[in-house]
Parts: sequence; structure tokens; C-alpha cells
Amino acid sequence: MTDSRLAIIILAAGQGTRMKSETPKLLHHLAGIPIVSHVLGTARELDAAHTIAVVRHERDRLVDVITDQLPDGLVVDQDETPGTGRAVEQAVQALPADFDGDVLVMNGDTPLLDVQTLSGLVAEHRRSRAAATLLSAYLDDPSGYGRIVRHDAGDSTVDRIVEHRDATDSELAIAEINAGVYMFGVSQLRDLLPQLSTHNAQGEKYLTDVIELLRRAGSEVSVLPVADSWLVAGINDRAQLSEAAAKLNALIIRGWQLAGVTVHDPATTWIDLKATLEPDVTLLPGTQIRGATTIARGAVVGPDTTLLDCEVGERATVKRTDAELAVIGAGASVGPFAYLRPNTVLGADGKIGTFVETKNAEIGAGSKVPHLSYVGDATIGEGTNIGAATIFANYNGVTKSHTEVGSHVRSGSHNVFVAPVTLGDGAYSAAGTVVRKNVPAGSLAMNVAPQRNLEGWVAAHRAGSAADRAAQRAQESSGE
Ligand code: UD1
Ligand code: CA
Repeated sequence: MTDSRLAIIILAAGQGTRMKSETPKLLHHLAGIPIVSHVLGTARELDAAHTIAVVRHERDRLVDVITDQLPDGLVVDQDETPGTGRAVEQAVQALPADFDGDVLVMNGDTPLLDVQTLSGLVAEHRRSRAAATLLSAYLDDPSGYGRIVRHDAGDSTVDRIVEHRDATDSELAIAEINAGVYMFGVSQLRDLLPQLSTHNAQGEKYLTDVIELLRRAGSEVSVLPVADSWLVAGINDRAQLSEAAAKLNALIIRGWQLAGVTVHDPATTWIDLKATLEPDVTLLPGTQIRGATTIARGAVVGPDTTLLDCEVGERATVKRTDAELAVIGAGASVGPFAYLRPNTVLGADGKIGTFVETKNAEIGAGSKVPHLSYVGDATIGEGTNIGAATIFANYNGVTKSHTEVGSHVRSGSHNVFVAPVTLGDGAYSAAGTVVRKNVPAGSLAMNVAPQRNLEGWVAAHRAGSAADRAAQRAQESSGE
């Protein structure tokens, strides 16, 4: 049910300079979705009456993601005054004037925060009736974060928050950090935010200065430390991004393991948030399950396999393969060393074997492309076997054309099917055939030139060579 007394503000207007990237910080990916999407997803589950995202840098690219995920959310553009305080000030101005509930503020760069922790914060704030409640964590290495300054050590209330760059040496020694997640009463924010100054090391309006203003006005501020500090990890640079990604991946893998999936080597296995796996799936080392890939019961994937937005059927095996937007049927076998490009559909019990590339290819049930082939823009019926080293020549340099191969076809090794062309049901082709004309059902296609052997050619043209000597020995021993 919608919480009519709750507004959520998501801060997404920062420049993200420490990423040193052309991609806005919050659009860098973690478990297959942008950093900000994790935060938006969590916010959405709280079902607040108002959700506002504040944007500025690369605003259009962010707004696309935000409106996609939060169609009912409001987007506010931050002006040229920098800082988290200014961002919240403008978001609060966008709230309806008669809204008098609580405001949950979240940094957009804290993707591991979960719904339980946030609802715990909302509940604690409402229970304690403090003017503000904020999440903190104790870190072994608190550098970069704002520090929680308490009046006396062990004091239950906080005096202020000092940013790393403004902190004294003794303040830098404080291990308790501000997580960047806060609950405020909206009326206090309306009063205090306009009072923030930019007199600090970064020349920004710090949201964190609201805490000191509240304390000076005699209000209570309570602090809720989180048990697991990784929950509040903020991402400012790429080192922190990879640490957070590894942590999230470990959690995702553990979740699937407890749901019945065997993961041989969690350290080298990566599973995106949107992937789904059934019990008794086995993932071998070096495997990446990306995007919205689904893997059915009993399938074995890996080692060294990357699947992006694929569908793998029950009991299929996929070994040392790279596949994108491919459907692999139940009991089918793929690899080792296969490359399945978009719109590959392999039927049940079919095979795409070693050093085979496929694209826009529908391969019927029980059909096999076992070795060293390229199948592009093709339909293959059921129970067909494509000979080793066959190329579906789909491109004449200008246009792409389609090849149709029927069911129970047996094509010879080293064929070229020059599209558009059709091989009918039950057709055969000889080794080395270049199929340029349709092959009727049940016919054998062949266009090999008769072989000629020019006897004595090596002795005449390569006299004294190793080949010549080998040939002479062979002739002597056979008595010729
Ligand atoms: C902030 C906190 C710090 C806390 C840390 C937790 C302040 C002043 N400092 O520091 O106490 O320990 O988060 O991770 O708040 N943003 C805007 N508009 C701006 C600037 C930033 O919307 O003008 C957004 C950013 O996009 C980001 C978030 O606010 O999502 C935090 O900004 P960032 O610059 O990363 O703050 P920190 O230095 O990490
Ligand atoms: Ca940050």
C-alpha cells in the first residue's frame, strides 16, 4: 500500500568526476543494470506517495533510465549551485505545498542498500520521533566518507557530520561514517535547507550540514548503524565499482546455490540480477550468465561460457561458448568453442559443435552442425546433419539472403551453400559441393570436377626435394 506520508528523494545530479568516464557514473553497470537502477528499484518497493530524482549532469541519459523504471516519479533539474544540499532543496520545492510527511533522501550511488534496511530506517525514524535519522556504518577504511561527530564518544546523538576534505586529523580518525541515507521531517528541511552555505573545501551546499543546524536548534538527530557495512558502500570510482560488483555477485550466487544451483567456482562465475536459473543447473568455472538469460533444470553451462539474454533448455550442455539472444533447446549440445549470435534457435537434442558460428539461424530438433562451420540466415529442418566445414554464404557483398535446408538432409564436408538456395528434405550433397542451384528432395548434389593425377609430376618439377625422395622410397618399397 502506498505510504501517503513518505516522499523519497534520489540524488543523481553529481558529476561523478572520480569515475573519469564519458558515461555518467550512475549509468555504469553492476550485475547487468545501471547503478542508479538498483537504487530506483529499491525505492520503488517502498511505494512512497512521491518519488523525486534530481538530475543535472548528462540529465537526458539519466532521465531515460529513471522514467523507464519510475514512470510515476518526478524528475527535478538541479541548477548551477552544486552539492547534495542544493539537490534536496530543489526536490523539496517540487513537493506539493501541503505535503507534511517524512522525506527519505538516498544517494544515487549506493546500490547495495536493500529494502529491509530502508524500511528499518523509516520505522526507526517514526518510532523515535527524532527530527532526523540517518544510517551510519563503521568502516576499517572510512576514507572519502563523511564522519559522524558525536559530542562524547559513545554519545547516542550526533553533533554534526564532517566531510573527509574538511575534517581535522582527529575527525579523520573516526571510523563511523555517514551512509548518505537519511529521514527528515519535511518542515525542518523547508526551514533549514535555504540556510546552507557553500563555505567548505568543495564550495558546495552540503546536505550533511543540516544535521548541525538541527542540533543547534535543539532537535534530536538519531543514528542507525547498519550491521553489514557493505550495504552502504558508495561508488565514487572504478575500484569501488568492482568491489561492490563482486560483493553483489557473491550474494546473487549464494542465493542461487541455496535455490538448488551448483556453482563450482563462485570466484570466476558472474550472474546478472535479471537472470533466472532452475534447480539442478550446474555452472562450471569461468561462466558469465548475463542479462535476462534463463537456464532450465539440469542444464550444464561452462566452463568459460558467456550467455547474454539467452534461453537454455532442460539438460542442455553449453561448453566454452559465447552466445547472445540465442535459444538452446532441451537436451541440445553447444560447443566447445561455439559462437552463437542473435536469433540462433537450436531445437531439442540438436548440436552446434566445435568452431561453429551461427546467426539468425533456426536449426531443427535433432539437427547437427558439428564442426568448423558458419550458419548465417538459414532454416534447417529436423534430423539433418551438416558436414564439417560448411559455409552458408549468405552475403554477396550487397545483400543478405536466406538458405533453406530440409529435414534429414546429409550434406557432405566442405560445402558452400550460396544463398538464396534450398536443399529439399532427405537431400544429399557430395564433399566439396558448391550448392548454387536448389537441390530437390532426395537428390544427391555434386559439382566436383573429375580428379586427374599427373604421374611423375614431383620428380619432374621438384627433383631432389624431400617430397621427391619420399616418393622414390615409396615406389621402391612397393616394387615399382
Ligand atoms: C556524500 C556525503 C558523505 C557520505 C557519502 C556516502 C555530502 C556532502 N556528503 O559524499 O557525508 O559519507 O555521500 O556515500 O552529502 N549529487 C547531486 N547533486 C550534487 C552533488 C551530488 O545530486 O550537486 C548526488 C550524486 O549524484 C550522488 C550523491 O548525490 O549520487 C552523492 O554525491 P557524491 O558527490 O558522491 O558525495 P560523496 O562525496 O560521496
Ligand atoms: Ca558518493
